Amino acid sequence: MTKICYLIGYPVEHSLSPVMHNSAFQKLGLDYSYEAIPVEPQCLRAFVEETLRKPKVRGANVTIPHKVEVIKFLDEVDSLAVEIGAVNTIVNDKGVLKGFNTDGIGALRALKEVYGPLEGKKIVLLGSGGAARAIGYYLVREVKAMVILNRTESKALALANDLKRSIFRFPVEILGAGLSEARLIKELRDTDVVINTTPVGMYPNVKNSPIHKSHLNNKMMVFDIVYNPLRTKLIIEATNVGAKTLNGLSMFVYQGAEAFKLWTSRDAPIDLMIQVVSEALEGDR
Ligand code: ATR
Repeated sequence: MTKICYLIGYPVEHSLSPVMHNSAFQKLGLDYSYEAIPVEPQCLRAFVEETLRKPKVRGANVTIPHKVEVIKFLDEVDSLAVEIGAVNTIVNDKGVLKGFNTDGIGALRALKEVYGPLEGKKIVLLGSGGAARAIGYYLVREVKAMVILNRTESKALALANDLKRSIFRFPVEILGAGLSEARLIKELRDTDVVINTTPVGMYPNVKNSPIHKSHLNNKMMVFDIVYNPLRTKLIIEATNVGAKTLNGLSMFVYQGAEAFKLWTSRDAPIDLMIQVVSEALEGDR
C-alpha cells in the first residue's frame, strides 16, 4: 500500500514541497506519495481526525495558518515544538499522531554549513512570528548574544522572555525590542549574523527590504529565509557591500529533509532536493 504524506495549509497551491518530496521518494525507490491539500481553518479538526489517522497516511507537513492550531488535535508533541508553540511536521505512528517542528533545525543546519560554528557570535533576528520562534529556540543554544527586533515590540519581548526561560542555565545575552531605525543601526554595527524572518522582500513585494542598505557591512553575514525570490533586495544589497549571504533555499530543503527522515527513517537525497526546488523556482520566473 502506497504511504501518503500530506501538506495541509490554506492556501497551498504554490508550495514546492510536493515536487521536492515526490522526487526524493522516487529517487530512493520508496512507495510514498506527497500531496498538498488546501484545508480551510474550520475543517482542520475533521481533516486530522478523519484523514490523517488512516493507516495509509504516514504523516503531514503543516503550514500557514495551521501550525499553532493543529497542536491541540495531536496525541503527542515533541517538547521543543511545544516550547516553540508550532508544529510543521506530523508522523502517524499506527494511528498515534506525533508533532514536531523541523524549521529551526533546518535553519541552524543551513547557517552553520556556510558560516561555521556560532559560538561567541551575536545574532540579530528580525521578526517574532512562527519562523523566528523556531529559529530562536535552536540558535540560542549556540550563540553568545541574540537581539530580537520586531515591528510589534510586545512580541519581541515575549519571545526574548520565552528564550531566556528556556536557556536559564547558559550565559546568553538575550534582548527583545521594537524594529526601529535607531535600534537597527545600533544592533547591526557589531552583529555577526542578521536573519530576516519577516516576509518583507518576498514575492510580490520584491522592491522592499527590511534593512536599509546603509546599515549593512562587510563583516556581517546576512541570512534571508525568504526563497521566493532567491535574490531578494536584501540579499542583493548585502552582496554589494561585501557581506556574506545565505538565502532561504537550503533552510527550506533541510526542514523538508528532517521531515522526510521522520516519515521514512532514511536520509533524504539533499542534492536532488536542492536541484528540483531551484529548477521549480527558476521555472516560475
Ligand atoms: P512566519 O510563520 O513566517 O514567521 P508569522 O508568524 O505571520 O509568519 O510572522 C511574521 C513576522 O513578520 C512577524 O514578526 C511580523 O511582525 P508583527 O509581529 O508586527 O506582525 C513580521 N512582519 C510581517 N510583515 C512585516 C512588515 N511589513 N514589516 C515588518 N515586519 C513584518
